[in-house]
Amino acid sequence: MKVNLKIDDHTLLTPIGLDDAQQVYENFSSDIIEFLPISSPPDKIEDTIEFIKLCIDQWQNKTDMVWIILDGNEFSGCCGIHTLQSKQPHFGIWIKKPKQGKGIGKKVVHFMLNWGVENLNVDFIKYPVDKRNTKSIGIIEAMGLRPFRYYKMGDDKILSVIEYRYHKK
Ligand SMILES: CC(C)(COP(=O)(O)OP(=O)(O)OC[C@H]1O[C@@H](n2cnc3c(N)ncnc32)[C@H](O)[C@@H]1OP(=O)(O)O)[C@@H](O)C(=O)NCCC(=O)NCCS
Repeated sequence: MKVNLKIDDHTLLTPIGLDDAQQVYENFSSDIIEFLPISSPPDKIEDTIEFIKLCIDQWQNKTDMVWIILDGNEFSGCCGIHTLQSKQPHFGIWIKKPKQGKGIGKKVVHFMLNWGVENLNVDFIKYPVDKRNTKSIGIIEAMGLRPFRYYKMGDDKILSVIEYRYHKK
């Protein structure tokens, strides 16, 4: 049930595949993970390949859907809806550094939360954000959402998470 999603004439989401490994590996850098629950980026491409193989299995098992974001046909980042079996999945996104600040993140988040609640069997979609991640908070609050709950996560790297929840209108 892999799905390509066309957001507009410029921006397309396509399920992640092994052909994307080099681009994902090169662009998933330490500044991208600053506010993500990951201690360090992969230090070898084999780790990225393992991650993509896991994503492919998860697409088949219908638990997680991870797409790459193509903007003007150029690899621009990744986004995903995770733990679908819970019916209360969460959304994640990263945009590669040279493509940030051009409106792609906002466009993808707004489109995908709507698409998810309209097309998947879910109660709502969670959007967890570290409280220092002002850009991401701006994106979600521009949709009219307000914090649902606050919690801390992680051991070495501790994130102060604000969780938003997007419901079907
Ligand atoms: C957060 C992220 C996805 C945003 O994507 P993006 O494409 O850079 O964001 P956009 O260009 O759509 O901008 C979104 C908003 O942030 C604002 N913004 C842009 N650059 C900014 C900056 N440097 N500081 C503060 N706000 C900024 C924009 O003004 C825009 O709001 P507006 O449309 O109301 O003006 C991206 O920065 C990213 O990948 N970060 C690393 C991974 C991450 O943190 N993911 C999110 C986890 S919740």
